[in-house]
Amino acid sequence: MKVYVTDLEKTQHELEAVEGWRLMEIIREYNLPIKAECGGACACATCHVYVDDDWMDKIPEMREDEEEMLDSAFDVQDNSRLSCQIILNENLDGLCVTLAKNPD
Ligand code: FES
Repeated sequence: MKVYVTDLEKTQHELEAVEGWRLMEIIREYNLPIKAECGGACACATCHVYVDDDWMDKIPEMREDEEEMLDSAFDVQDNSRLSCQIILNENLDGLCVTLAKNPD
């Protein structure tokens, strides 16, 4: 399966993804600029991404802890998600997201 990740320079990367992995882990594996400081524990919000509109109804809904953590992210939009909380499954083959900017 593949996921498509657009970086801050608007370049889209096609990444080979693995079912059962967190989206954040795939993005990190390809050395794209994602901090993911807490390593996927839903405790930092530095794995923030914007999900393409076409995919919003296909990704699993947010749990409360993700929602709370997102509140502390920078430039949150309606399609904001924490990529460590998106576990990839076959329905997400072709998922498109854009990396969010993190304040330094
Ligand atoms: S990696 Fe920290 S919240 Fe996702």
